[in-house]
Amino acid sequence: MFAFDKLRKSLRLFLFYGNNWTSLIGGAITSASAIVLIGFWVVEIFGHSGSRNPYLGIIFDLCLPGLFVFGLLLIPIGIWMRRRHLKALGQIPSVYPRIELTDPVFRRGIEIVLVATMVNFIIVGTASYRGVSYMDSPNFCGLSCHVMAPQWTAYQVSPHSHVACAECHIGAGFSAAVQAKVNGTKQLAEVTFRTFPRPILAPLSVLRPARATCEECHSPTRFVGEKLLVETMYGDDEKNSLTHNVLVLHLGGVDSLSHLSGIHGHHLDDYEYVATDSSYQTIIAVSKHNSDGSSTQFVSSDWKGPIQGVTRRMDCMDCHNQATHTFQTPNDAIDKAMVDGSPSASLPFVHKEGLQLIQAEYASQAEAATKITSGLDNYYRTQYPAIWSGQRAQVDAAANTLVAIYQRNVFPDMKVTWGTYPNGMGHSVPGHNPSPGCFRCHDGSHTSKDGKTITNDCSVCHNLLASDEVNPKQLSLLGLQ
Ligand code: HEC
Ligand code: HEC
Ligand code: HEC
Ligand code: HEC
Ligand code: HEC
Repeated sequence: MFAFDKLRKSLRLFLFYGNNWTSLIGGAITSASAIVLIGFWVVEIFGHSGSRNPYLGIIFDLCLPGLFVFGLLLIPIGIWMRRRHLKALGQIPSVYPRIELTDPVFRRGIEIVLVATMVNFIIVGTASYRGVSYMDSPNFCGLSCHVMAPQWTAYQVSPHSHVACAECHIGAGFSAAVQAKVNGTKQLAEVTFRTFPRPILAPLSVLRPARATCEECHSPTRFVGEKLLVETMYGDDEKNSLTHNVLVLHLGGVDSLSHLSGIHGHHLDDYEYVATDSSYQTIIAVSKHNSDGSSTQFVSSDWKGPIQGVTRRMDCMDCHNQATHTFQTPNDAIDKAMVDGSPSASLPFVHKEGLQLIQAEYASQAEAATKITSGLDNYYRTQYPAIWSGQRAQVDAAANTLVAIYQRNVFPDMKVTWGTYPNGMGHSVPGHNPSPGCFRCHDGSHTSKDGKTITNDCSVCHNLLASDEVNPKQLSLLGLQ
């Protein structure tokens, strides 16, 4: 009974001093932002059509809670000011008035709070709604995502161009969503103050594990077998001579008896490795579990120091790190374009000249476009005047393709150039592929204590049926030539 009386007394005190403009407006701001926030949470829990834009955290995790706290702070500030004011006037009552709904002063206070809450609700609600629409618009992306231009450009021509960035980068679940919002807010600040790193790196360690991404769509048991790869290459001679590689990759997988085989099968067995760099390019040790419960560690013979660095359990992304936003190598890009007809192989030395032009350094994509075009034009005008006048359309088309190849892979303002993002598929092939890929471990120098070495026998991974051949008989046998 005593406690109840005390409560009633302090409530009277609170209402008496709280009846001032500052506190009333504070109360209205707080209740209005609370209603908007609760509305948003209800939509998020029940309606899944909502936006997954990570930058929304700025509104719902920063602005609205900020307004809420701001309103809360206004209430005691108003109380304190009114108390001080009344004290100065010597008008502090000895008994605080009772709370009566019939009291016109009290009624007026309630009316002010109700009206102000409604007005605030309309303002805060509309502002939040407009913020959400804005952040989902291409305009917002154009403004903030230009730093993603390299990945965005590569992504659009990838097999995953219909898989949303968030599917791999954010993942499912509450903690992933919270983490993404924190990251999104941080990134927006970096973009605003232009402090973002160039080039942007997202080490595999910050990505969701493959189980929560790739394996949501791809089943590791579904790719058992061999895969035929035919590579077409043009030479650096005058005729741009055509040659082929033909290889059968032992892709393997998990068969119906749970046997692991080939490239896919072997690495799904919980291998753990230690690298000395955050892009996982220099791997000094790999461990694998054996069926008897022991484990074998293979250590690089090039490494003399203690085994320490960043540790990671191998999954799909160690090989398929560029499953989407795949950047090309200069050779691959030109060869692929020439197979498609432009640059035309009938232009002498176009492979060699093209490679040089796209690998030269330019200050910007715009400068590259001008210089690549004039460079190729110049070359044929001075070296092959007959070709220049007779095949002008092909020269122009070749220049356009070279510019497109450059702009697809090189972004000087983001410091992204050939080879900035190494590719884990395949392995270094001089003049063709600069990334070590499989050879980070399969270089023939990662050896265990009992003398076993991770293989670098070419035929364990693939049968190289033809290498750099003009007319491989395998292609005619398969009816491909
Ligand atoms: C299929 C899965 C997948 C999708 C879809 C995807 N990414 Fe990635 N992304 C990755 C992986 C895996 C890496 C790590 C690459 C590495 O460490 O080498 C990565 C890395 C990045 C990086 C760091 C730089 C780099 O290339 O390594 C950026 C930036 C990036 N992604 C942006 C995007 C954007 C923007 C989109 C959508 C347009 C997107 N990603 C869609 C899987 C994906
Ligand atoms: C949301 C579903 C989804 C996710 C997540 C996803 N993929 Fe895919 N992936 C696809 C689809 C669909 C295709 C087939 C695209 C086509 O054929 O055009 C594909 C194709 C591929 C291919 C074949 C590409 C080719 O050139 O033929 C590879 C390799 C691949 N995905 C690997 C990955 C890896 C690795 C990850 C995780 C980093 C991943 N995928 C995540 C749906 C997904
Ligand atoms: C040790 C490296 C490695 C790992 C780990 C790996 N892959 Fe692959 N994967 C490859 C290679 C190599 C190819 C063939 C590449 C090519 O076609 O050029 C391939 C091909 C594929 C393809 C295309 C198959 C086809 O028939 O064309 C898919 C899909 C794929 N991988 C998904 C995955 C998924 C999902 C995982 C994780 C469960 C995974 N891979 C783990 C190396 C790997
Ligand atoms: C650890 C497995 C592995 C070993 C060992 C290996 N390769 Fe490969 N190699 C691959 C894979 C995977 C690819 C396919 C990459 C792709 O998808 O394009 C490849 C591709 C190639 C290519 C075509 C690539 C290109 O860019 O033109 C050549 C040539 C080649 N390998 C030669 C060799 C030779 C020669 C050896 C032996 C010294 C060897 N490889 C050992 C896995 C291996
Ligand atoms: C992080 C290190 C690592 C990377 C990267 C890696 N592997 Fe392996 N791989 C291993 C280990 C460890 C083994 C098991 C070696 C053993 O048991 O002797 C293995 C085994 C294999 C085997 C079975 C060898 C056999 O003797 O039957 C194949 C095939 C293979 N890898 C292909 C590849 C290909 C292709 C790539 C690149 C696309 C690749 N690996 C990348 C670590 C790696």
